[in-house]
Amino acid sequence: MTDRQIRFLLNDRDVVIGDLRPEDLLLDYLRLNAGLPGTKEGCAEGDCGACTVLVGRMKSGKLTYDPVNACIRFLGSLNACHVVTVEHLAGSAGSLHPVQQAMVDNHGSQCGFCTPGIVMSLYKLWMDNSKPSDAEIETALQGNLCRCTGYESVMRAARAMGKTGSVSRDKLVRERKATSAKLRSLASRRTIEIGKGSDRIYVPGDAGDLAAILKKEPKATIVAGSTDAGLWVTKHFRGIGPAIFIGHLDDLAKIKAADGVLRIGATASYTDAAGALARHFPNFGPLINRIGGAQIRAMGTIGGNIANGSPIGDMPPPLIALGASVTLRSSKRSRTMELEKFFVEYGKQDRRKGEFVESVSIPLLNKSVYKISKRNDEDITSALVAIRMRLGREDMVDSIRIACGGMAATPKRANAVEAALRGKPWNENSINAAMDAFAEDFSPLTDMRASAEYRMLVVKNLLRRFYLETQDAGSPSSLSSYVAA
Ligand SMILES: Cc1cc2nc3c(=O)[nH]c(=O)nc-3n(C[C@H](O)[C@H](O)[C@H](O)COP(=O)(O)OP(=O)(O)OC[C@H]3O[C@@H](n4cnc5c(N)ncnc54)[C@H](O)[C@@H]3O)c2cc1C
Ligand code: FES
Ligand code: FES
Repeated sequence: MTDRQIRFLLNDRDVVIGDLRPEDLLLDYLRLNAGLPGTKEGCAEGDCGACTVLVGRMKSGKLTYDPVNACIRFLGSLNACHVVTVEHLAGSAGSLHPVQQAMVDNHGSQCGFCTPGIVMSLYKLWMDNSKPSDAEIETALQGNLCRCTGYESVMRAARAMGKTGSVSRDKLVRERKATSAKLRSLASRRTIEIGKGSDRIYVPGDAGDLAAILKKEPKATIVAGSTDAGLWVTKHFRGIGPAIFIGHLDDLAKIKAADGVLRIGATASYTDAAGALARHFPNFGPLINRIGGAQIRAMGTIGGNIANGSPIGDMPPPLIALGASVTLRSSKRSRTMELEKFFVEYGKQDRRKGEFVESVSIPLLNKSVYKISKRNDEDITSALVAIRMRLGREDMVDSIRIACGGMAATPKRANAVEAALRGKPWNENSINAAMDAFAEDFSPLTDMRASAEYRMLVVKNLLRRFYLETQDAGSPSSLSSYVAA
């Protein structure tokens, strides 16, 4: 038995859709079908935040609202969700929401194009924490660009929003119980299947259903957070059907530290995984905070970053340096391999017919990772170096793994650099020799992000920086970080 409809809650209305294509996007639906033009389209690629809405869903039994870029969120992924747009913030007789009032009082808007998106990001922050610090406000707004007001008045509004109204009186907060019950009733335990041929969409009930669908449709596009796949549609005008939407699968989102490994399910988002990753590997905290903005981190998954196989994906190099393994599953079996072996060549991963990425497992050790990009926030990597090292007696390098992003067609180990350091004393001379060895490992490209010469220079200097940091007990890479956890 299958269901043939997507059912979700949009503000306070029930939506049932039985006719949709894999490429149909939430933003178009809101503006063109639902008569809700408050949500704006700026970039259509997840960068500017003008299209920010909240999407609530039951995650491990708890109703959780995430900020989401509606421009790259597929309609087919919304079953049993609560979509909240800026129109829903209006109070009785059209009064302003406390967050909107704070924006008005503090002159937080000029042309107004970015404002609904900024209001929605601040609304999410206000619900969780109505008196945020400046750092928390900046993190919440990383994914919202404003070209005319400037950010100072928006910051003032965010600082003031705790005084303009009470969170407990907010509609979403008051209706939590009823909304949770409603979303539970909308969830389908069966696979939802709509459409025919390449216009078909599937929404599996669990990971077992996903395996069964992939057996039948091995060429279907798996879509998790759609932060890569969404752009294939909005920027490259590609079809993605038949498509299988998996972002809601809780059984693939589990995160657990046990038996010396941290296991992260493929559909865990960056936001979901950030706490556990940063707890066990402190350097992951700042790295994850530099992946997109809050919207991208709430949507994008760790499994998607691995499965996509991009040479500038930020997760693979540190995971490879840590000796992580990836588990793939099909309807017949599961298999686990070293993550570095998963990346075969540019655009080709070792994923067989009918398989999906189930999880990644990381041995519990500490390490260091450096990301270089043109801007600190909301920017894709130019070059990334991740290092895991263990020193033995008399500061001899016992073991070392170095993995780089942006330096080759796949995320790749720096084998020659590792060999130049292994068994050598951890000192200036060894570092100088190892820096030269980068040229044996990599011939990077020149592209719009960086020149080949820059990339080579920067990875060499990051190795030197790592060495210098290990000489300073107060630095992020001080030697104590390398003790097994
Ligand atoms: C504005 C913006 C900023 C970004 N910034 C960064 C950044 O700083 N660093 C970075 O690394 N990335 C960045 N990205 C890219 C993207 O967010 C990540 O690669 C993300 O992890 C992809 O995950 P997803 O769940 O959204 O994947 P999706 O888009 O859903 O899927 C990506 C690919 O993986 C496949 N896939 C997904 N899940 C599975 C699975 N379980 N099994 C098999 N195949 C699967 C899909 O079929 C598809 O080929 C950014 C993207 C945007 C739009
Ligand atoms: S329109 Fe720019 S992030 Fe969606
Ligand atoms: S107010 Fe004009 S873009 Fe922000």
